[in-house]
Amino acid sequence: MPEKQLSTQEDLSSRMGAEFVVRLYRLLKGTAIYDRNNVVMDQYAQECLQVLNPVVQSEDHLFLKIVRDNLFFNNVKIQVRADNYPILKAFLMEMKKRWIGEIEFSEEVNKEHLKELLFLLSGLEENNEGNYLYVTKQLEYKDIGHIHVGKLEFFKDEEIYIDSEDQKRRSKEVYFKSINMVKEVMEGIKSQKVVNIRKAKRLMQNAVNAIMQDDSALLGLANIKNYDEYTFNHSVNVAIYAIAIGQRIGIPKKHLSHLGMAGLFHDIGKTRVPKEILNKAGKLNAEEWEVIRAHPVVGAEMVMRMKEWGELSTRMITGAFEHHLRYDLSGYPRLTRKKKVSLFGRIITLADFYDALGRPRVYNRFPYVSEKILGLMMERSGKDFDAILVKVFVNMIGIFPLGTLVLLNTNEMGIVVQIQEEADLIDRPKVALLFYKEGQYRKGKVADLTEKDETTGEYKWKIVKTLDPNEYSINVAEYLI
Ligand SMILES: [Fe+2]
Ligand SMILES: [Fe+2]
Repeated sequence: MPEKQLSTQEDLSSRMGAEFVVRLYRLLKGTAIYDRNNVVMDQYAQECLQVLNPVVQSEDHLFLKIVRDNLFFNNVKIQVRADNYPILKAFLMEMKKRWIGEIEFSEEVNKEHLKELLFLLSGLEENNEGNYLYVTKQLEYKDIGHIHVGKLEFFKDEEIYIDSEDQKRRSKEVYFKSINMVKEVMEGIKSQKVVNIRKAKRLMQNAVNAIMQDDSALLGLANIKNYDEYTFNHSVNVAIYAIAIGQRIGIPKKHLSHLGMAGLFHDIGKTRVPKEILNKAGKLNAEEWEVIRAHPVVGAEMVMRMKEWGELSTRMITGAFEHHLRYDLSGYPRLTRKKKVSLFGRIITLADFYDALGRPRVYNRFPYVSEKILGLMMERSGKDFDAILVKVFVNMIGIFPLGTLVLLNTNEMGIVVQIQEEADLIDRPKVALLFYKEGQYRKGKVADLTEKDETTGEYKWKIVKTLDPNEYSINVAEYLI
């Protein structure tokens, strides 16, 4: 069972990551007590290397990265467990204090190199944003170029209190501006005008910033599927889902906006598909299918011919070419040579599949509800989709996605406004309760479904079922954003 295998692999990485951090932390603490040549330090360094070098050998590098309060070990999130929590947390604090957010070993390391790094780190002053530059210089000077350190990202943002209304307003702006921009660019391409993609790039950078701060507003917008113009919404939704997945697996910020761009224009090839085929209500004949199925190749060729994309070009080609390819290389286009679908391709495929199946009723006679789509994805995990990404995606969307109208066991109705971070509490989101007043539903207080009754110890609320907002004439968007 590929899913099982992959998830144990991920689990293994996470455990190995935790073990590495525990050992690294011990070495770091050692620098304050022992001097460089003490046997204890040698011992600690040796213990680190026992994890470090085998990982570098098998995975080409070891990359430790801090994203918010999480540590990522070669792009796998290190799961916090009760026994390792204090040390992981302490290590995180030590790094954050020094503004160090990344450590990468790109070749095997020896004891002296490692000790050098740890003494450098421990000697850094607190709250100096430029620390990573100093360490980089020192390492270079000492000829240890295969160890890299990077600056901590977004630490500042977390410290500053961000007004959630303000954040929502900004997310909304990014979302709707992006839709107009995709429209502009796609129409420009159609009429063979020179397109300005600088604006698109900037918008995707804004989207990345917004998602990194709090992805709920943009994911909420992507989840609401009752917009008028589906085509352009779809492009933006795919970009948002892709960035949000990428963020969760620790893809660096710069690459996230590239991922967003690739997601935004994945269907660029569709601009060459005649409208009659694209909007045909009845069944497509074989010839028409051929035309549709050509859009990934057509899209990739279009990108190749345009100079405007610059350094983005390769990513954009990937997004266009691979988004209907499955993990096991089924799907289309058919490949003559076997190759692996790229990480960006796998992410965009997933995002595209989810959004395409959930499209609004006007465009789809049988739109699937989210739960059903996630079920399909899990069923095909490891075959059509990358099993690890499916897991990340399901946790992100939740069983009850943002904007779902639910009925609680207290007979109250509510709208899901926040998904819990903990995977175990995925069925207990935060819900804005609704009350009926003067002919319409209004938003009341927010209930956290993880809250328990103090006397009985039981959960105060439970979701009984989901409801169709149309039946109650509720426009979810109004409550969510
Ligand atoms: Fe497509
Ligand atoms: Fe698509």
